[in-house]
Amino acid sequence: MESRERKDECQGGVNVPRRNLLVGAGALAAGMLLTKAGGLLSPDLAQAKAITESWPWPYVKLDPDETAELAYNEWYRLYCGGGVVSSIFSQLREKVGEPYTLFPIEAFIFLEGGVSGWGTICGSNSGANIVTNLIIGPRTAGSVDGMLMGSEIMQWYSDTDLPTYSPKNPKFSGQIPTTVSNSPLCHVSVGRWMKAADKSLGSPERRDRCARVTASVAYHTVELLNAWKDGKYQTKGTIPADFYGIQTMHNCTSCHGSDVPMPPTAKR
Ligand code: HEC
Repeated sequence: MESRERKDECQGGVNVPRRNLLVGAGALAAGMLLTKAGGLLSPDLAQAKAITESWPWPYVKLDPDETAELAYNEWYRLYCGGGVVSSIFSQLREKVGEPYTLFPIEAFIFLEGGVSGWGTICGSNSGANIVTNLIIGPRTAGSVDGMLMGSEIMQWYSDTDLPTYSPKNPKFSGQIPTTVSNSPLCHVSVGRWMKAADKSLGSPERRDRCARVTASVAYHTVELLNAWKDGKYQTKGTIPADFYGIQTMHNCTSCHGSDVPMPPTAKR
């Protein structure tokens, strides 16, 4: 009975933890649990923590086209990072339920514009990494596989003539040029595209281009996850620091020109 109630409450997302934070101190005192760190958790919060922190999260294969459509439309609400996360997790909320129902999808709107508008990593890459790390498991779960798939997606993003996906009902119906960013960064990716297209940041073309890039990344992420689910995934991902001796992107010369510095312990 109690678990049924929980499930119904969960449908909206993060309602369970929030509601329980608001429960009166008297009610909580009845069933408080002591955490390892000595903090107190209500039974429901402890259960939510156990559900969301057991890796990997269950995955069922998704349709890449359907996912890309969702991501495209969600860009107009949650932008790139939120769009990728929402396109995949909203489907898994329906097909799997928990832990996806406990995940605060909308919070990831902050990935917009390369994290709060700073033009760092393109949010669609961040969103894809959130998804792969939750589904395959983060490093704390003892494997770097989620990170390697995330790394592979960033390399693909850098090398691919984007966007690759055309929506069924585009919000902008004119021609959208494609560009290769050679970088996973929002600033570089959007900048190179704006130069090629000669369109401003606020133009409907640029907005639709980013919505389509988001859809393209969501599509590719689901392709890789489906292969992984079938046991056929062989990663092309690498951890750059393993061979450069510094956390980095591979395109050294685009920032350093011909004089690329080497860190003290570089193995190269
Ligand atoms: C997005 C731009 C960008 C890319 C790509 C990039 N770097 Fe850098 N890197 C910088 C900037 C900016 C600094 C700081 C330079 C300074 O302080 O003078 C820096 C600093 C460094 C430093 C610290 C030492 C120094 O002399 O500044 C090393 C080593 C370095 N980069 C190596 C690399 C290597 C190797 C690659 C490619 C595998 C790379 N970087 C790719 C922008 C970049």
